[in-house]
Amino acid sequence: MSTEKTFKLDGRDIPFDDGDTVMDAALRAGEYIPHLCHDPDFPPHGSCRVCVVGVNGRHTASCTLQASEGMDVDNSSEDILEERRMLLQMLFVEGNHTCPACEKSGDCKLQAVAYHAGMLSPHFTHFFPKRSIDASHPEMMFYYNRCILCGLCVRVSKYEDKKSVFAISGRGIDSRLVFNSPSGKLGDTDFSPTDQAASVCPVGAILPKYLGYETPIGQRLYDFKPISVVGDETARDIAKDKLTNGGPDE
Ligand code: SF4
Ligand code: FES
Repeated sequence: MSTEKTFKLDGRDIPFDDGDTVMDAALRAGEYIPHLCHDPDFPPHGSCRVCVVGVNGRHTASCTLQASEGMDVDNSSEDILEERRMLLQMLFVEGNHTCPACEKSGDCKLQAVAYHAGMLSPHFTHFFPKRSIDASHPEMMFYYNRCILCGLCVRVSKYEDKKSVFAISGRGIDSRLVFNSPSGKLGDTDFSPTDQAASVCPVGAILPKYLGYETPIGQRLYDFKPISVVGDETARDIAKDKLTNGGPDE
């Protein structure tokens, strides 16, 4: 008799190990749960809520939810899909995400998750916040407009690069990403394009200078495959490749 522990995700048995979250076990079993602030190689953050699932009638973030035996997880009911679309729509209207004019279009997880979720319009009124650009770094650009405050660069810079270039400051609507330098400018930090944090941003907030359209629109990662089948590691590797070799098509 098998002693494997399992929970159900949309009726399918998903094996898990002690300490796994629902997200960890689902991704390992090849089941996609949409996510933006999560990357399975780094500690969870639980901020974007796009990974929302239903358990016993409660909606909760699956990237921070510990898996337990016999759990019955809903990843695809109309209720859950509707909530995800609404969360994505809020992310779109809170920032200035002008996909057709963004260098990250086709490689952007926010855009790819929105396609996956069937989001057809922003629905809410755009905030059109006035946000700037930090172009002080010789090789990298930072676009405040596009940052969704997922905290991935913060975690990766701290835990992988051992640098702590980034931090999130403020609360609620006043939250913003800040750079740890005396001037507050990215160019005055020790950030490098070879840092792991340089290739982890799910949107077009942290981008290399001079490489914007190296890979033509229409030939980018999510132009070929939907995000539900592209792993986070593959997305990171492609971004890293662009940063170190000037793009995969060179
Ligand atoms: Fe997330 Fe990118 Fe903003 Fe960092 S810059 S918090 S990785 S969206
Ligand atoms: Fe779970 Fe963002 S992916 S809260």
